Amino acid sequence: AKIAVLLGGDSAEREVSLRSGEAVANALEEHGLQVLRIDPAERSIAELISENIERVIIMLHGRGGEDGAIQGALQTLGIAYSGSGVLGSALAMDKIRSKRIFQSEGLPTAPYYVATEASLEAFDAQAVMSQLNNEIMVKPALEGSSIGMSRVKSAEELQAAITKALQFDREVLVEQYVTGKEYTVSILADKALPSIRMETPHSFYDYEAKYHTNTTQYHCPSGLTAEEEQHLADIAIRAFKAVGASGWGRVDVMRDQQGNFFILEVNTVPGMTEKSLVPMAAKQAGMSFTDLVLAIAKTCEC
Ligand code: DAL
Ligand code: MG
Repeated sequence: AKIAVLLGGDSAEREVSLRSGEAVANALEEHGLQVLRIDPAERSIAELISENIERVIIMLHGRGGEDGAIQGALQTLGIAYSGSGVLGSALAMDKIRSKRIFQSEGLPTAPYYVATEASLEAFDAQAVMSQLNNEIMVKPALEGSSIGMSRVKSAEELQAAITKALQFDREVLVEQYVTGKEYTVSILADKALPSIRMETPHSFYDYEAKYHTNTTQYHCPSGLTAEEEQHLADIAIRAFKAVGASGWGRVDVMRDQQGNFFILEVNTVPGMTEKSLVPMAAKQAGMSFTDLVLAIAKTCEC
């Protein structure tokens, strides 16, 4: 039977999705499968019906593709799709509501403040700066790949960063910056793969550091002790399940200088480009890119 790969879309992460989707579709073809590529920004997913597609790998990142919308449409059409369902996708996409769930589950996450256009009228940037330890990450609530994000160290920068992030979303997460090291835990078949530590000379692991430069260093194995690795895997799986995610994904985490982990977010359709993290973790676990893609295809449920 034919399998379809959804790629592209019209979110700010379109370019990344085209790269992820092509890599996945090529691997399936090399494996001998017939693949239909659909870019929902250009063609209707109704074609999945006329082409008799029963299984879809979603490689759309960001809004419309990773947030439950396409998952709901496919579910209504009776077509099985990879990864998380509607609820897990929608919750994981929302960094603010995810954080509230992490808190209620007792999962470690950095202190934060939620900014909106309305809250800016009575906004005391200096007070927020000092409440959040004078170093802050500003993030649009519903973006991916660090789009619209800034790291700020002063009240003036904070105002500008919130204004910028508000161009992407109605809600902005203003989060205490965790000074330390950045890790990510890939999840496949609801189990953790070896963690990766990312190191960048940039002020943070931004879009450039993710997709364009060769200056980002990836450490996999990440250098944790077996016990620390197990603890990190445990909290990552807990975070993944807490937001209702399933199948496969990736949980991003910071570790402070005292060794405490803080959950940043859950990604339900993480990148699958040649620079991406899940393929790197899978490789460390002895899986080829094709093995990984076939395992993702197996997460399809309806
Ligand atoms: N949002 C990008 C695709 C990632 O999490 O890998
Ligand atoms: Mg993300």
